[in-house]
Amino acid sequence: MADTDSAIIVLENVYKIFGPQPKGRAYDLARSGVSKDEVQAQTGHVVGLDDVSFSVKEGEIFVVMGLSGSGKSTAIRTVNKLIDTTAGTVHVNGTNVQELSGTGLQSFRREHMGMVFQHFALFPHRNIIDNVGYGLKVQGIPKAERDQAAMKALSLVGLNAYSRNVPSELSGGMQQRVGLARALASDPEILLMDEAFSALDPLIRRQMQDEMMDIQGELHKTILFITHDLNEALRIGDRVCIMKDGAVVQVGTPEEILTQPATGYVAEFVQDVDQGRVIQVHEVMRPPAPIPADATIEDATARLDWDRTGAFVIDSSGAPTHVLCARDCARAASQGTNELASILRSDFEKCQRDDRLNTVYAAAGRGLPIAVCDDSGALVGNLDPQHIMEEMGRVENLIDGFEREVYL
Ligand SMILES: Nc1ncnc2c1ncn2[C@@H]1O[C@H](COP(=O)(O)OP(=O)(O)O)[C@@H](O)[C@H]1O
Ligand SMILES: [Mg+2]
Repeated sequence: MADTDSAIIVLENVYKIFGPQPKGRAYDLARSGVSKDEVQAQTGHVVGLDDVSFSVKEGEIFVVMGLSGSGKSTAIRTVNKLIDTTAGTVHVNGTNVQELSGTGLQSFRREHMGMVFQHFALFPHRNIIDNVGYGLKVQGIPKAERDQAAMKALSLVGLNAYSRNVPSELSGGMQQRVGLARALASDPEILLMDEAFSALDPLIRRQMQDEMMDIQGELHKTILFITHDLNEALRIGDRVCIMKDGAVVQVGTPEEILTQPATGYVAEFVQDVDQGRVIQVHEVMRPPAPIPADATIEDATARLDWDRTGAFVIDSSGAPTHVLCARDCARAASQGTNELASILRSDFEKCQRDDRLNTVYAAAGRGLPIAVCDDSGALVGNLDPQHIMEEMGRVENLIDGFEREVYL
């Protein structure tokens, strides 16, 4: 296989043509680079997948994103062979899944993967614990054991208190959680999630994304996640694959997709994204460069970088105690004061390295630097409102420049 050792799911040059003669002229045309629309016009066949290659590494959340009809569901369904490919190979854990059939395929699916769909059908008359344990029941696992596994899965999604309820007593978001619990109950190494959160309200959806990331932090599954929402993709994906007309347009980390869009198509998508949701504090923060508490205002001013709005004073444990603001220095100088303590402020904001920029916008709006601290409270970075603005501007310029290049 061409891909790295840690790849668990590997698609190589996969084609899927829908129609009565999938390996006929439609396939030849698609292979020679004729567009999906043109293939359809000429042959009446639909190009579902057009030379798709990507690999999903062990333990990552790999998101496939694209508009409706771009081939996302078709791609994910080749992985558990819910659909047959026209050409190309699909390997899962080194097994060519497209060569499996019958009970071999069934047990391979059961052993390796769990699936969650957008419209997840629960059995209406079975209670939640039985719904979650259903897959285990099919496998012939005794009741006590599957109840235990089901309860564990339910507690992962925060629904252990509802194990004896029936689905109609749960909200849509809770039912979707049950779906996730059902997939988790058999403890598969791979989760296939096709628009699993797409039917949920935005707020519930965000909660689900957060929960899934928490669960992932604990269980380290390999997750292939499908969505049509770029914000969702960039928020939860370790890597994102963008599809259009059955083909892969770009695979990259969220940062790469945002800052180095491979085509005008991706750039256009990216324009609608709130960059702040993706970029993390540590990408923008600068080294702390703290000011000694016993410095004079003159010393402190000399130590402040010209492009910073301020710097922090730290205590003996490295924790920030005060912030010195550049504009206060200027004012003190004009008033002839040189006592640092008289102009220090203690009402500064804090954040952590992994926080997203959008969570610090309000704090940045105060015009003071924000203290980036580690878990022990020590200062590890200086997040300056000016640098946040620069970063945002940089990304926007990049997209503008790119658009000019592509469209003009
Ligand atoms: N069973 C099918 N028969 C014919 N065309 C199909 C079938 N399933 C999917 N397609 C077509 O394949 C393309 C990709 O579909 P799909 O993978 O469902 O897209 P997505 O999940 O990205 O919305 C679409 O043009 C769709 O109409
Ligand atoms: Mg789909």
